Amino acid sequence: MASTTAAVTEPRTYLEYKRFSAFHRWMHFLVFVSFTVLVFTGMPLKYKETHWAKWVMDAVGGVTAAGVYHRIAALVTVFYWTCEVLLMVYVVFRNRGRGVFAPGSIMPNKKDWADIKGMFRWFFGRGPKPQFDRFTYWEKFDFMSLVGGTVIIGLTGFIMWFPMTFTKVLPGVFINVALVIHSNEALLAAGVIFIFVHLFSAHLRPESWPIDKVIFTGSLPLEHYKEERPLEYARRVQEGTLGEVLVVRRITWRTRLTDVIWYGITAVAGLAAVLMTVFIVWSIFS
Ligand code: HEM
Repeated sequence: MASTTAAVTEPRTYLEYKRFSAFHRWMHFLVFVSFTVLVFTGMPLKYKETHWAKWVMDAVGGVTAAGVYHRIAALVTVFYWTCEVLLMVYVVFRNRGRGVFAPGSIMPNKKDWADIKGMFRWFFGRGPKPQFDRFTYWEKFDFMSLVGGTVIIGLTGFIMWFPMTFTKVLPGVFINVALVIHSNEALLAAGVIFIFVHLFSAHLRPESWPIDKVIFTGSLPLEHYKEERPLEYARRVQEGTLGEVLVVRRITWRTRLTDVIWYGITAVAGLAAVLMTVFIVWSIFS
């Protein structure tokens, strides 16, 4: 801790809270790229009768190319999902099942329900804003819906990808059922990620506007962390584990350059999400 204190007195050096490991940042990057590819190669099929579907299909290189990209992105999806689930199973085994619903866990617990109610009271000016630990209820919802939704969309996708194999054990009508489920689950997932939960909660909240780059850099300023996650901060101070999550961030030309890249990537992803939302809404109402 003494060397940390000395380091932060250097110019352009800050003490930050390390929120995500390199593993989780890479996993998020794979989700981010593969999900975008899946939406942009899948939605033009769902809305094939529209003008925009033709533009998007032409832009991605045609229907055959879109099918190949969709399948490659699907394999990336299987890869990151398997890595995350294996890690969760490993952590549960390592801790012998202890702490699965503890305050710092990603698993939902009773406090989340209290927080949801508290948040609604706060929206209507009838109570204070709830205080959060490591993960908020909307972050847990985001994570759980991705882990659970991937099972549904993945299974139905593989049924359509390998119809001959699946119809050896399932009646043929399952192919049609798989298409209906896949198609609607895709719409739900795009809605959750692009509009209702992820983009909104990650970037449009006053605390994180215009960009929350913690999933790219891994850490965020200590002051910001204390304000956003006061319960985790207090818990770590009490347990004496705060030092485990403190890192020194030096601002150099490289960190400035990577910050510009994160801003660029987030802006492009945000624009892509807005564009696809406009296309989908246009198809629904036209
Ligand atoms: C493991 C994951 C996935 C697999 C194996 C998979 C596979 C497939 C397959 C085989 C098709 C049929 C079209 C074709 O032959 O190219 C398809 C269609 C489609 N996929 Fe996926 N997919 C997966 C994930 C996703 C995700 C995450 C989304 C979007 C959020 C998505 C959106 C769509 C859409 C919108 C269609 C068109 C459905 C329609 O015609 O109504 N897919 N997918």
